[in-house]
Amino acid sequence: IKRKRKTVIDHERVASYAFCFDIDGVILRGPNTIPEAVEAMKLLNGENKYNIKVPSIFVTNGGGKPESVRAADLSKRLGVTITPDQIIQGHTPMKDLVDIYDNVLVVGGLGNVCRNVAESYGFKNVYTPLDVLKWNPAVSPYHDLTEEELACCRDVDFSKVHIDAILVFADSRNWAADQQIILELLLSQNGVMGTVSKTFDEGPEIYFAHSDFIWATNYKLSRYGMGALQVSIAALYREHTGKELKVNRFGKPQKGTFKFANKVLTKWRKGVLDEHLKKLSINDPNAKDADILINEAGEEIINQEKLDSGHYDSDDSDEGLTVKEPLAEVSQRDQITLELPPASTVYFVGDTPESDIRFANSHDVSWHSILVKTGVYQDGTVPKYKPKHICNNVLEAVEYAIEREH
Ligand code: G3P
Ligand code: MG
Repeated sequence: IKRKRKTVIDHERVASYAFCFDIDGVILRGPNTIPEAVEAMKLLNGENKYNIKVPSIFVTNGGGKPESVRAADLSKRLGVTITPDQIIQGHTPMKDLVDIYDNVLVVGGLGNVCRNVAESYGFKNVYTPLDVLKWNPAVSPYHDLTEEELACCRDVDFSKVHIDAILVFADSRNWAADQQIILELLLSQNGVMGTVSKTFDEGPEIYFAHSDFIWATNYKLSRYGMGALQVSIAALYREHTGKELKVNRFGKPQKGTFKFANKVLTKWRKGVLDEHLKKLSINDPNAKDADILINEAGEEIINQEKLDSGHYDSDDSDEGLTVKEPLAEVSQRDQITLELPPASTVYFVGDTPESDIRFANSHDVSWHSILVKTGVYQDGTVPKYKPKHICNNVLEAVEYAIEREH
């Protein structure tokens, strides 16, 4: 019987711990980069006194652009390569809804950007409020479509389309029109514009990419965010129907986003570790230097000679036990599966107690929350959710965590 084995090798070059960063108020403030973020990224990239690379991902409630665009923008600002696989935006986990809904109204962001993002996720029929306004401008009085907006519209007869779900992807650029259209659909017969339900229980489902009531921009006071739009829509719905609106939420601090972030982090850590493992064929003249040997059958085997002083965990799933054995005692016939144990600690650096600190504190004890003073949280106030540590900025947060680990 072949048993699955987990390696815990190579933590001398790649840290067993990891970082997860919020973006607005930690890395950026409106259009500006927070200067300390540049130095912080260098430290994680191995430029620290321990010469160790620390895996990291970004979890922002923001959105309104493809993950690839955000990754390219961050790479430029921070002077290190950030890939789309490291980015989770508020709407990223909405990918999982692709097979559930055929016709979706995507709200928020500039022009056609969110439509394009939704289509890149695999959504089939993606409509926007601008399409609705082109179909019938009287839907939202007092707003005439600009030339630019008209260029983003598709010709659709909304009296014949059933909208199955409303996905609020990013901040609304036109609260009046967006609220008017969202409310009309919520109160409609089966998501058809121009109809009114008698029971108010047949409209589309509504999803929000996050629920941040306020967020930090380059203005001195925080600004209303998507959570405020949510409050407003729920209040209008209650006023109209006497019922509570059922809302589906993504983003921090939701558990769904936490699970998604963990999946992404595991994949990323594996990739970082893999890059540092030397893999050679068992017949290669330098085989003795390899971390992993590839045998004739293409199987990957840990190079016992190189690592014979080390240990790795063997996970016997039948008994649910994890034991540590010296490598020398492990039979060569056992298949080695390169499966990483979870990060020993995930340091989450955020600026908003209600979303970031709550997110990091609620779902897994191995997450360590750090609150910074460069965004929503104001020095001298008592945060509603208590972080494990408070510091001035993201650079101090990274320095604190690295010192705590070594
Ligand atoms: O709209 C974005 C904002 O609500 C927060 O973004 O990066 O602080 O999660 P972030
Ligand atoms: Mg933030």
